[in-house]
Parts: sequence; C-alpha cells; structure tokens
Amino acid sequence: MKNPVKVTLTGAAGHIGYALAFRIASGEMFGPDQPVNLRLLEIPQALGSLRGVGMELEDCAFPLLHDVVLTDDPEIGFRETDYALLIGAKPRGKGMERKDLILDNARIFAAQGRSLNQYANRDVRVLVVGNPANTNALIAQSNAPDLDPSQFSSMTRLDHNRALGQLANKTNSLVANINRMTIWGNHSMTQYPDISQCLVGGVPAYDLVTRDWVIDHMIPRIQRRGGEIISARGLSSAASAADAVVDHVRDWALGTDEGDWVSMSVTTDGSYGISEGLMFSFPVTCSARGYQIVKGLELDDLSVARLKASERELLEERAIVDELLQATS
Ligand code: NAD
Ligand code: LMR
Repeated sequence: MKNPVKVTLTGAAGHIGYALAFRIASGEMFGPDQPVNLRLLEIPQALGSLRGVGMELEDCAFPLLHDVVLTDDPEIGFRETDYALLIGAKPRGKGMERKDLILDNARIFAAQGRSLNQYANRDVRVLVVGNPANTNALIAQSNAPDLDPSQFSSMTRLDHNRALGQLANKTNSLVANINRMTIWGNHSMTQYPDISQCLVGGVPAYDLVTRDWVIDHMIPRIQRRGGEIISARGLSSAASAADAVVDHVRDWALGTDEGDWVSMSVTTDGSYGISEGLMFSFPVTCSARGYQIVKGLELDDLSVARLKASERELLEERAIVDELLQATS
C-alpha cells in the first residue's frame, strides 16, 4: 500500500466541498490504489455542519480514506499537506459578476497563502476555486514566497468541460473523442473558449461546425454558463465544479493523455505575449515534471485580441488587490 496523500479542502461544508469530499475519498482523484488523508478546513460558524460531513464520510467506510481531520485552524488544516484545494469563499448571486466578489474574498487567500507558506509540504500543489479564482490564486501565490509559483493554479477546467459538452452535442459525438480544447484567460466573461485546435474523432472541429455557431453561440454560452446556472438553480454550480476539481487535480498529479492537453490557469511566463505576474488559463500538458504550457500554437488576430482583453481584465483585478500582493513583497 502506498503512503497516504494529504489533501486539504477549504470550505468543506459548502456546496462544492460536500460534492467533492466523497469523490476524493472514494479514490476518483488519485486512483484506486492511493490512500488519502483529508483535512477539512472551515470557519468556526460552519463547524457544526462540517461535523455532519465527517460523520457521512465515516459512514461510507471508504477503504482508501485513512484519516479525516475537521478543523477551523489553518495550521492544523494545512500542516504538511500535499494538495490544498482552496474552495471556501463567498459565491456570487444573481446579477453579479465574479469580480464583484474580490473585496469580500481576497483577504481569505492572502491569509491562506501565508499559512501554506508556513505549514504545507514544500512540494504542495494548490488549486484555487473560490472566485474570482485567477486573482485569488495570484494573491495566495504572492503570499507564499517560499513556494514556487508553479505550485499554484486556478480552475478553468469547468469552462473546458463545458466547452467539450457543447461541442460534443453540436457534432453529435462523444466527449471522449474530442481532443485539444483550450480555454484562454480569466475564469470570467472575458475567457476565450478556443476550438481552433480541436479534433473531433480525428477531424478538425472547424470542418464540422461553422464559425458563426462558434462566435455567436458557443463562446458566449461558455462565458455565461455560470450565470445561467445561478439563474436556474438560485445557487452557483456545485457538482460540476467538484467534478472539474477532480479532473484538474487528477491530471496534474497523474498526467494528461498522450496527444491531448487540458486547460489550467497558471502563473504567466511570457508565453503568448501575456504579461508576467498573472494567473492566466493556457493549454497545458501534465507529467511527472508538473505542468508545461503548450507553446507555439498559431493564433489569428481575433484570438490575440480576445487574449489581450482577458489579460487587461486580469491586470485591472490585480490593481484592485495590489495592497494584498505587496503585503509580502
Ligand atoms: P458555499 O457558500 O456553498 O460554500 C463556501 C464555504 O466556504 C462555506 O461553507 C463557508 O463557511 C466556507 N468558508 C468561507 N470562508 C472560509 C475560510 N476563510 N476558510 C475556510 N472555509 C471558508 O459556496 P460554494 O458553492 O461551495 O462555492 C465556493 C466558491 O467557489 C465560490 O467563491 C464560488 O463562486 C466558487 N466557484 C468557482 C468555480 C470555478 O470554476 N472556479 C466554480 C464554482 C464555484
Ligand atoms: C461557475 O462558473 O459556475 C462558477 O464560477 C460560479 C459562478 O459564479 O459562475
């Protein structure tokens, strides 16, 4: 039996946390031979509800779940953790944009970045889900100066999966037969879902769908999907978000499929002309060496303009939280 991997979930009593904890404990994230220890971190007011989650985990009798700790203490939650899934944050309601959450949520990620810097395993990998996810990830990363920026990421996998679902429906094909989907940019209305490199059963996607459908229907649908779900459910996506967390971390830990890539928001390194010091979604492959941004893809002028619009938005968000970024520099 392998040594257990230690996974911290913040906001574990929330909607996403509740949909996620059981899937990690069942082995879906790290595989059927990898035991896990869960560290479920909440705020004091949610500890009662968190106890219920703990009882249900116990009642599932998952063979791979070796140990569960419920806590509101970041030191206990993050100590020697291998994977930190930063979900706990306020969700948006109807009529809000994700960036409207910045002032409410940003401080959570500054504090958690500092805790990770102090307590986590030196090889910890961090995924930020709480919105606005890209800028919150940047805040956490900048408050963890002893960790490498490549250890931080934020989630655009839900957008990636949404785009796969839309394209599969339109082309009457299986999601499993679609490769090389890309989400560029911010997890926001400026994100750019790009099918120009996609293959559907080995056939270029643009041989199967029209540019008009992509520009007038698919791209706006993905950009607005979070809001569409909030209007329908009265709550933001939870099960699909948890599913995307499983996909993101599994691929980062175990590697992407040969010949394919996934979308992850990661620290910019100048690729595709995007300013350094942002969290930006790129096509990436993952292997034992971590993630690598897929380089050298050709982008037409319209695509470059979309990337630049998302970069501009992220620069604006970064300016709003400047004080939190400077706190540790
Ligand atoms: P929720 O309100 O159901 O749960 C949030 C939980 O976080 C609550 O239980 C709360 O007590 C806890 N929490 C708040 N501050 C905390 C802190 N400092 N430490 C630990 N726990 C804390 O919300 P949800 O539906 O689970 O969504 C959580 C976040 O994820 C929201 O910001 C939402 O917008 C975001 N989200 C992102 C994506 C994405 O694709 N990136 C998708 C869906 C939702
Ligand atoms: C989503 O994309 O579903 C989440 O980011 C929640 C939201 O506010 O849209």
